[in-house]
Amino acid sequence: MDAFSTVIRVASHEQHTEAETSTFMSDLLGGRLGVDAYTRYTEQLWFVYRALEDAAESLKDDAVAGPFIRPELMRVAEIERDLAHLVGPDWRENAVALPATRAYADRVAQCAAEWPGGYVAHHYTRYLGDLSGGQIIRDKAERTWGFERKGDGVRFYVFADISNPAAFKRTYRELLDAIAADDLEKQRIIDECKRAFDFNGAVFRELGEQFPLSA
Ligand code: HEM
Repeated sequence: MDAFSTVIRVASHEQHTEAETSTFMSDLLGGRLGVDAYTRYTEQLWFVYRALEDAAESLKDDAVAGPFIRPELMRVAEIERDLAHLVGPDWRENAVALPATRAYADRVAQCAAEWPGGYVAHHYTRYLGDLSGGQIIRDKAERTWGFERKGDGVRFYVFADISNPAAFKRTYRELLDAIAADDLEKQRIIDECKRAFDFNGAVFRELGEQFPLSA
């Protein structure tokens, strides 16, 4: 097998293009949706990242998943600040997980509890994406809805404790390459990564149904 970081990137490339060009993402980034759509999307992220990060404590010493658990990646507190800004102090009462989001978060929690390799697949799919395309989304969101640059509303996308994202991603890929897994387990992780992209696609679809373009 080639370097695992390469294999997993290549294996998910097609689905990445699908996610990028999904109707909801294109409409959101094309500035065709209101801030309410962005808010609903951010709420969905809150459910997913809680599942990812609630597991951090129990997985931090795990041989497979432990090396990936890094405090500078943690997003829940940032999402909560964004939602307080976007919705107001009562944001928790308004936050509802769409069915696709529920299924996604449940699967992350299940992997965290039962299968560290699967958890890594979900970790990779979200955090490496946030460090990459997330920065494009932040820039668009700031311009479209007038958030302060790197301020409230887009803090989810700001990794204040990662000064050099490119270097961080290189280190992350080295962790992937060194993962304590044999080839069969690596293949299973790749399959779970594809599932992770599917879950994201399903959330986008349900959001797209909630926010159709009237035109
Ligand atoms: C419009 C939305 C998106 C844009 C513009 C975008 C853009 C990008 C770009 C430019 C990169 C390459 C960064 C690099 O080579 O270092 C990247 C990487 C990545 N993105 Fe996205 N992305 C989007 C949505 C998503 C979504 C929805 C997911 C999954 C939830 C995702 C997951 C990833 C992952 C895992 C990588 C790392 C690939 C690797 O190097 O192994 N992206 N994205």
